[in-house]
Formats: sequence, structure tokens, C-alpha cells
Amino acid sequence: MRLMVTGGAGFIGSNLVKELVKYGHAISVFDNLSTGKKENLVGGVNFYLGDIRDKEYLNYSISQEKPEIIFHLAAQISVSQSVIDPVTDGEINIFGTLNLLKSAVKHEVQKIVFASSAAVYGRPQYLPIDENHIKRPLSGYGITKNTAEQYISIYQNFGVDYTILRLANVYGAGQFAGNEGGVIAIFYDKLINGQVPVIYGNGEQTRDFIYVKDVVSAFMASINRGKAETLNISTGCACSVNQLFAFLKEILGKNIEAKYEDERPGDIRSSVLYNKQAVKVLNWKPLYSLRSGLTDTIDILTK
Ligand SMILES: NC(=O)c1ccc[n+]([C@@H]2O[C@H](COP(=O)([O-])OP(=O)(O)OC[C@H]3O[C@@H](n4cnc5c(N)ncnc54)[C@H](O)[C@@H]3O)[C@@H](O)[C@H]2O)c1
Repeated sequence: MRLMVTGGAGFIGSNLVKELVKYGHAISVFDNLSTGKKENLVGGVNFYLGDIRDKEYLNYSISQEKPEIIFHLAAQISVSQSVIDPVTDGEINIFGTLNLLKSAVKHEVQKIVFASSAAVYGRPQYLPIDENHIKRPLSGYGITKNTAEQYISIYQNFGVDYTILRLANVYGAGQFAGNEGGVIAIFYDKLINGQVPVIYGNGEQTRDFIYVKDVVSAFMASINRGKAETLNISTGCACSVNQLFAFLKEILGKNIEAKYEDERPGDIRSSVLYNKQAVKVLNWKPLYSLRSGLTDTIDILTK
């Protein structure tokens, strides 16, 4: 098949591209390399260095490639940046997505698979959070992902099918330690350099950490399944930050204690996503526990 990945030079996107290539698909990547890296690009893939806000060039790339499916991962991904500069966040995550949708209609793209986020839900009213949970985002990022989701869903009326994947906290090799949500990458970097990581609050806050290979398999499953579906992609398991830190120390054989600092205002105490709808619809399931995913990540990083 002819497939395009926006954000294909980024952490999740490049892992997806590497997997798609194995199946012999014709792949193109559209990325402005703002957080993505050139070295993440895979040989044999057509690369368009461009910004999704640039509608002419985006349209040109789609007209050249004529992809059947576009995996849309390019985004402004920083929650704090979305608060500091909500206009740019909106321009990339909303208007960039609209540019993509308009070109998708023009060039008869059959489907968009969209990387959305658990940030659309906001503060959990109950756990685990299912797809029917109220959406009350707490940040510009959550609002723009939510808005992009809504635009994507109405473009079905213009012949573009979709699967929206609401990702929990993704981790794995290649995640930039400076990125938010990349707590695992940050801890790893600190531990490997013999530095003391900071844990905010008492460390008993929980998150649903999903391994990037399990996220990639959900994107792959969306090629043939998930028509007009919005699905949580998660492990369904809550893990505390203390537990995560203990796993990492054990796997790396490091005996460094974390420094505890005040909880950050607005931090959510617990988050875990219900994934049974994705399991059913995509015939998919996460294969990695946090321990096995971390072990695999560290194996890759230390090769
Ligand atoms: N990592 C997570 O835990 C997580 C969780 C939920 C959702 N997501 C979503 O998954 C997607 C991929 O995230 P990631 O963690 O791989 O981040 P990433 O920063 O590594 O990847 C984003 C990619 O998009 C590119 N990009 C950014 N703005 C662009 C623009 N204006 N035009 C073209 N390309 C642009 C970047 O260069 C980068 O390659 C994003 O949409 C993100 O919101 C990620």
C-alpha cells in the first residue's frame, strides 16, 4: 500500500515507519524536523521536509505520493508550550490537521489514522478512563488534540475514513529526554550519567506507560480495522512513578536515590486508560509489561 506518515522522523513515527517498511509498503514521511531527527529517517522512504502549516507544500507532497492512508503524528507535543504559546499550538495541531484533511479529500486519501492523546480527557472522573469519559482538557494541547479529533471525524462525510488512537504515556528507545511525558527517558538519562533524578510529589502518582512497540502495532492494526473508531491505546495498568523508578534502577543496576520535590500545580494524581475497546476492534493487545518494555528499551539503548 501507499502510506504517508506525518511526524515520521519523530519518536513514535520513526518506529512506525521502520515497521511499515518491513511489510513492503511504499512509505513517505512528511516532517519539519522540529523535534524529529534526520538520523531517524529510513532508507527507501520518500522524505518531504516541510511544515504541516504550509498547505501548498503539504498538498504537493500528497499529490505526489497519493497515499491510501495517512498516519498523522506531526504535532506540537508539549503541554507547557501549549500554555505559553497557544496560538502556535493551535496553528500546528488544528490548522495543520485541517490542511491535511483538505488535501486528503482532494487526492482521495481513504483514511487518516490520528495520534491523539489521553490529554483530551483532563482530570479523571473515574478510573480506568474509557472512551466515553467526559472530555474536559486541562491544557491547550488537550484542546487542540480534541478539536483535531472532531474535524477528523466529520471529514468522514467527505469520503475520508479515520481511526483515532488516544495514546497513554508512550516510552521506548529514541524518546527525547527533554520531551514532556518522557519521564522514563529523563530518569534513564540521569541514572546512566550518575545524576539524581527529581520526583515531583511523593511518587505515588500513577500513569499508564505503554511501550512504543505496542503503540506501533496498534497503528499497524488500524490499516485494516477501526473504521470510524476512537480508541484508547494503553496497557490498562497503573504504575506509580516510584515503582517505575525502582524498575529502572534494578534493570540498570544503579543505586541512586531520587530527590523529591513539591508536586507541580495541576499534576494529575492517577491516570489509567481502559483499552478493551481497542482490543476488540483492532484485534490488538499490548504485549509488553512495563518491566519487559523497559528491559527491551535498555537493551536497544545499550547495544
Ligand atoms: N509520546 C507520547 O507519550 C504521546 C502520547 C500521546 C500522544 N502522542 C502523540 O503522538 C505523536 C508523536 O509524538 P512523539 O512522542 O513521537 O513526538 P515527537 O516530537 O518525537 O514527534 C513529532 C514529530 O512531528 C514533527 N513535527 C512537529 N511539528 C511539525 C509541523 N508543524 N510540521 C511537520 N512536522 C512536525 C516533529 O519534527 C517530530 O518528528 C504526536 O502527535 C503526539 O501528540 C504522543
